[in-house]
Amino acid sequence: SPDFSQFFPFQISTSSSGEEPCYAGVPMSSIVEQGLGVGDVISLLWFKRSLPRYCTKFIEICIMLCADHGPCVSGAHNTIVTARAGKDLVSSLVSGLLTIGPRFGGAIDDAARYFKDAYDRGLTPYEFVEGMKKKGIRVPGIGHRIKRGDNRDKRVELLQLFARTNFPSVKYMEYAVQVETYTLSKANNLVLNVDGAIGSLFLDLLAGSGMFTKQEIDEIVEIGYLNGLFVLARSIGLIGHTFDQKRLKQPLYRHPWEDVLYTK
Ligand code: ACO
Ligand code: LMR
Repeated sequence: SPDFSQFFPFQISTSSSGEEPCYAGVPMSSIVEQGLGVGDVISLLWFKRSLPRYCTKFIEICIMLCADHGPCVSGAHNTIVTARAGKDLVSSLVSGLLTIGPRFGGAIDDAARYFKDAYDRGLTPYEFVEGMKKKGIRVPGIGHRIKRGDNRDKRVELLQLFARTNFPSVKYMEYAVQVETYTLSKANNLVLNVDGAIGSLFLDLLAGSGMFTKQEIDEIVEIGYLNGLFVLARSIGLIGHTFDQKRLKQPLYRHPWEDVLYTK
């Protein structure tokens, strides 16, 4: 029998064997002629289908809003230190990307998983949040170092406004907002953060667009596609931080000693 081990078991999304490359069957000329954008390219390459314009616009807004959040956040800090150590663009970029995870920018998938499970099981926000506390798990998508109940994250507000205006249903987002109302009653730092906003709204996008089966939605959430949005977006900012350091000819970074607690 033939040896298939040499083949990757993938659904081909980019074909370059014909006259022009295609993304999920859509020729590049058609992408350009129709004036499609990066949201459409993401929907073709990640989700293997053309999504309605409001969905691809939402993807683009996520990418624009998460592109950067200043030099002091985990990812930018690592990138800046690495660039100032004289390393190249790719090293500086990945050094920053490697900080993306459960606490910083990489809570989108878990937020989607936990909000979906809680909503689908009909848990009240109280039952959900207190259940998480009993398990010793922080609610992904809730909490921020700087943002507070009286100093909301503008990105969250912009995403919610777009979805309320354009999505057929925002039931998961409304559930996340109810969770936030409950967590804010416990502590002022426990706002719905940008990861939680994207995670809950992407559930609404997947469920409300009519473009995905229930099984496909479960698979997307289970595999964890959504952190990819933050990784992609933040790469834009991290590349910018690398260029800034190089252009400004910044020297090797050394952290102020007095910031470090040293015990013998
Ligand atoms: N769920 C439940 N309780 C929480 C949560 C949460 N998500 N976040 C903080 N708390 C509680 C803590 O348990 C702590 O209470 P305690 O001292 O009684 O234990 C209190 O709030 C203060 O916590 P800190 O650790 O001081 O909060 P910090 O500012 O360091 O944490 C962070 C910020 C890491 C974002 C945190 O809220 C968290 O882990 N959230 C979940 C992960 C998440 O959504 N990350 C994405 C953030 S947005 C972004 O990165 C783009
Ligand atoms: C970000 O987008 O980087 C932030 O929300 C995280 C932070 O610490 O401000």
